[in-house]
Amino acid sequence: MSSEPIRLQKVLALRGFGSRRVCDDIIAAGRVKVDGKVALLGQRVDPETCSVEVDGAPLGVRPDYVYFVLNKPAGVISTASDPQGRPTVVDLLPRDPRVFPVGRLDADTEGLLILTNDGGLTHHLTHPSFGVDKEYLALVDGNPSRSALRELREGVELDDGVTAPARVTAIEPNLLRIVIHEGRNRQVRRMCEAVGHPVSRLVRTRIGTLTDTTLAPGEWRPLTLEEIRELEFASAGIPGR
Ligand code: URA
Repeated sequence: MSSEPIRLQKVLALRGFGSRRVCDDIIAAGRVKVDGKVALLGQRVDPETCSVEVDGAPLGVRPDYVYFVLNKPAGVISTASDPQGRPTVVDLLPRDPRVFPVGRLDADTEGLLILTNDGGLTHHLTHPSFGVDKEYLALVDGNPSRSALRELREGVELDDGVTAPARVTAIEPNLLRIVIHEGRNRQVRRMCEAVGHPVSRLVRTRIGTLTDTTLAPGEWRPLTLEEIRELEFASAGIPGR
């Protein structure tokens, strides 16, 4: 099977090699090969069948797949479209190709969100059976006691069942680092509320092995090939290299 050929320059730009102009320079310098042959400016590739290398390193994933990490600001919703017309995370990213958020963050939650058009990786990262770690910083009301922290760690009774064990550390008396691998709706907020300490600010700081402290709210960047690989490993339950 083959699909619509896409310009090589676009493939490289989407993968984060730079602007289309810079990507043309990389191609013109003979640094790119398609199916083992030095690529030409203006060349198009079939994303399903062609293999692309830059400086001898294979792109490694299908050239028409794109992967971004966004630092989601508060107030932006993480569905692909909103019937009420509120801003969505998709509005913050390039429109072509169309990407979808991997899982959801609440409108009020900030932090790392992956967006991609790779349905396989999305499935792996969001399916509860794969259990990829997600780390959050939660600013809570009051100072949770040791027993409240223990309850968060061991499992909290919620209306959709007891939560799985979580890793919870008090960085400051009212600032918790919480690592969960389930993805239930508003889970961290509901866990904290259930032990008497509602969340006033929630930021996701890690997904599997992926972290980024450089992106300002609303900023995004392409994932590197190494990051994509590590997420694939994490979602398959294999520790990164
Ligand atoms: N837990 C929450 O309560 N909200 C999120 O957005 C993510 C995890």
